[in-house]
Amino acid sequence: MNLSSTRILTILGSSIALAFSANALAQQPITIKFSHVVADATPKGQGAIKFKEVAEKLLPGKVNVQVFPNSQLFGDAKELEAVLLGDVQFIAPSLSKFDRYTKKVQLFDLPFLFDDMAAVDRFQHSEHGKALLNSMTNRGLKGLAYWHNGMKQLATNKDKLTRPEDIKGLKFRIQASDVLEAQFRQLGANPQKLAFSEVYQALQTGVVDGQENTWSNMYSQKFHEVQKTIANTNHGVIDYMVVTNAKWWDGLPADIRTGLETAMQEATVFANNLAAELNERDRKRIIEADKAKVQELTKEDVAVWRKSMEPVWKKFEGPIGTDLIQAALKSNN
Ligand code: LMR
Repeated sequence: MNLSSTRILTILGSSIALAFSANALAQQPITIKFSHVVADATPKGQGAIKFKEVAEKLLPGKVNVQVFPNSQLFGDAKELEAVLLGDVQFIAPSLSKFDRYTKKVQLFDLPFLFDDMAAVDRFQHSEHGKALLNSMTNRGLKGLAYWHNGMKQLATNKDKLTRPEDIKGLKFRIQASDVLEAQFRQLGANPQKLAFSEVYQALQTGVVDGQENTWSNMYSQKFHEVQKTIANTNHGVIDYMVVTNAKWWDGLPADIRTGLETAMQEATVFANNLAAELNERDRKRIIEADKAKVQELTKEDVAVWRKSMEPVWKKFEGPIGTDLIQAALKSNN
């Protein structure tokens, strides 16, 4: 073999090696991290697991979805930033936690806006609701779906909890939302913004006296063990928006994006069908555990709570938009 054919063979060899490694790279599954702050046995926890199962089935060898529950990877304080930095690809914060990114989504925090979860669902499927999924793309966040949790209940470390006067002067943990802050101030209580992962300890040590949450969140975090009374107020909603980094999403190969979209649709239907069942199951478990008393309210009691919280709407009407509030109210019919 002369010198030039040796050189040709060497060049050929290295191009083949290069082609092989490029191919191997192309076939490396894309790692997708899905981080959230609640337990696996909650509507969001179950939705994330379902998303992983369906995505990996539809895109075999192409994606590897890793779910991190319970603030293991990122808690409330960091998860939105982490998506924007590309440290995690999917998160599903409660709708209360977006107020640094858009004022519109604060709509969902207005007390007694929706009569029930069916109304919330109708609104989310309306044109106005769907448009909110894209209300943060200019900030780099793309909304892919709404996931349900359920209606919020109010709980304290006191024996009496039927009327607003029962919470005057009490300290309440709230999510990072200015509407929720105004809601508790309106009731004469002292709200304190705290990450979800810190709530149990804050209740246990008396840093706060109470909190508002869904049955499934209270049960899975054992809040009922460190609260005395949980009133069935249904005064608001805790739902989620699954968001991703808009740039990362747009840069995905088309087949992968389509597969993930389908997986998200399936996971959404699954989680949303399960949410009511899990909250009902956990409401019963809390009653059976007999640690905190579950306080039923009369229609009159609920009407007084509603009236007391009403001024909050006026305060946020401007930033949220009356058109959006009207559209949400229409979903109650
Ligand atoms: C909370 O922070 O209270 C909840 O919104 C947590 C969650 O994600 O359900």
